[in-house]
Amino acid sequence: MSDEASVSTSAPSEGLAIKTDVERVGSVKQQLSRLAKVSLQALFPDEIEPLIAVCQAKFGDYQCNNAMGLWSQLKGKTTEFKNPNSIGQAISKNLPQSEIIESTSVAGPGFVNINLSNKWIAKNIHNMLVNGIEQWAPVLSVTRAVVDFSSPNIAKEMHVGHLRSTIIGDTLARMLEFSNVEVLRRNHVGDWGTQFGMLIEYLFDQFPNWEEAGDQAIGDLQAFYKASKKKFDDDSAFRTRAQQAVVKLQGGEDRYRHAWQNICEISRKEFDLVYSRLQVQLEEKGESFYNPYIPRALEEFRKQGLIKESEGAQVVEVEGYGIPLIVIKRDGGYNYASTDLAALWYRLNEEKAQWIIYVTDVGQQQHFDMFFTAARLVGWLPDPSKNTYPKASHVGFGLVLGQDGKRFRTRSSEVVRLVELLDEAKQRCKAELIKRLEDNGKIVDWTDDQLESTAEAIGYGAVKYADLKNNRLTNYTFSFDQMLNDKGNTAVYLLYAHARICSIIKKSGKDVEELKKLGTIVLEHPDERALGLHLIQFAEVVEEACSNLLPNVLCEYLYKLSEMFTGFYTSCQVIGSPEEASRLLLCEATAVVMRKCFHLLGITPVYRI
Ligand code: ARG
Repeated sequence: MSDEASVSTSAPSEGLAIKTDVERVGSVKQQLSRLAKVSLQALFPDEIEPLIAVCQAKFGDYQCNNAMGLWSQLKGKTTEFKNPNSIGQAISKNLPQSEIIESTSVAGPGFVNINLSNKWIAKNIHNMLVNGIEQWAPVLSVTRAVVDFSSPNIAKEMHVGHLRSTIIGDTLARMLEFSNVEVLRRNHVGDWGTQFGMLIEYLFDQFPNWEEAGDQAIGDLQAFYKASKKKFDDDSAFRTRAQQAVVKLQGGEDRYRHAWQNICEISRKEFDLVYSRLQVQLEEKGESFYNPYIPRALEEFRKQGLIKESEGAQVVEVEGYGIPLIVIKRDGGYNYASTDLAALWYRLNEEKAQWIIYVTDVGQQQHFDMFFTAARLVGWLPDPSKNTYPKASHVGFGLVLGQDGKRFRTRSSEVVRLVELLDEAKQRCKAELIKRLEDNGKIVDWTDDQLESTAEAIGYGAVKYADLKNNRLTNYTFSFDQMLNDKGNTAVYLLYAHARICSIIKKSGKDVEELKKLGTIVLEHPDERALGLHLIQFAEVVEEACSNLLPNVLCEYLYKLSEMFTGFYTSCQVIGSPEEASRLLLCEATAVVMRKCFHLLGITPVYRI
């Protein structure tokens, strides 16, 4: 299947590569907005932003909601309008002729209800099938963005919080990429903290010949970290040496640099085990990368008199937090905030990103709020109320909880190893799949490789979907039983639903490519129309998910799509009916849109079960 968008994660090029072969008309909402804009321009001298929304009730498909607001602006002035309804009437009357709109009606205080033309919906779907789903990519006003996600810390364990960040960040990046935004996927790993002094010194102590032993010397990095931490806490002479080691490392001394690189390399290999399972692409630019940029970033603050001395530290005063933002610690060292300021400077000035998106747990909200405020003070970011670029957004998410409602831990209350967690999801899926196939006698048709890859798709997909389907700000309870259930709003259910559609098409014995060429889609039955309307709303859902940075919006859409398909399939016979060609095309369109949703959610679709 070639419905995967070509995703570019390469270095920024000049300008933005827009696929020119597809006409970028944007979502249905955007198309209606353009029509409404023409109408509003004909009626009012000022530029008015059209307010188009999906209709809640059964009055129509969309509505234009400008009349009431305009009425209150016009109050007291002499105009031709006698009430909001008459403004609505005028907006409706001035809408330009378009094949999109079947009819309009004006309700109560001027809501203009818009009914889309069935023919146009059908044609729109057919066009998508012929030209590819890229045609339904939303048009966003941003061209280059940084998504800073995953970002674990070297030598420390990568925990479920980092898993959430990885899953959510990857989806956001995928949605933006699909919307023709160039995305710089940044892994802001913590590779520059004071912990390195202790780690390196401990390495030198324990393994004077560590360079010969390589990775073997350190072995399990987390155990190594714990041991060195213990020594650091217990032994004051060691502590002093560790602190000096940080200075030597940061001063660039060869031996220290080399040991540091070695430690980072071991961590990286660990992280990659998770990334490769999840098929997540990231480019590492860790904290150390921005270190050389800190002095000049802070210099901009200093020049504007924004850096003050406070209890021996250097701080930027940001109002409303009760504490200042420390940018140089009392010992003269830089910290998380100064690194983030330098990284922001770099992303804005060197990488020319317009939108910088940070994905971490909500616990870091204050850090981001404070340093965004500081960046505004120094003039790097505009006032957020202006809603212009560049823009910085913190995408916070809640905790992962265990069944007991407490922070998610293993039975022995250790931090859960992500690789083990993912492997367990896959193993459970594989066992379930084998059982199912044995029960229906189909196991003979499957090779072990096929079982493996299907179990991976479902298992990892289930973990991702369980995370993404909730509003990210809520805590979510990790439960294999729930996420691997084949009923309800789970990836398993959705992947099965997709496979079922594929098998309907297959069973028909028809060649879909032929149908695309010769067949036409007709939306006559109300369930056909409802499905068709939902399909063409894909672009605006992706648009909303991108603008509000909410992947759950796309999950809701996907789940509803499968429900609408069930509705359609229950009431409309497909195979052998007079409408077979049209209905098979609707099946295909549903499958294509489902696959694109899976792709945007980082889930590999399965075609048979
Ligand atoms: N390493 C941090 C952590 O584990 C997350 C970094 C997020 N990105 C950033 N630019 N601060 O909590």
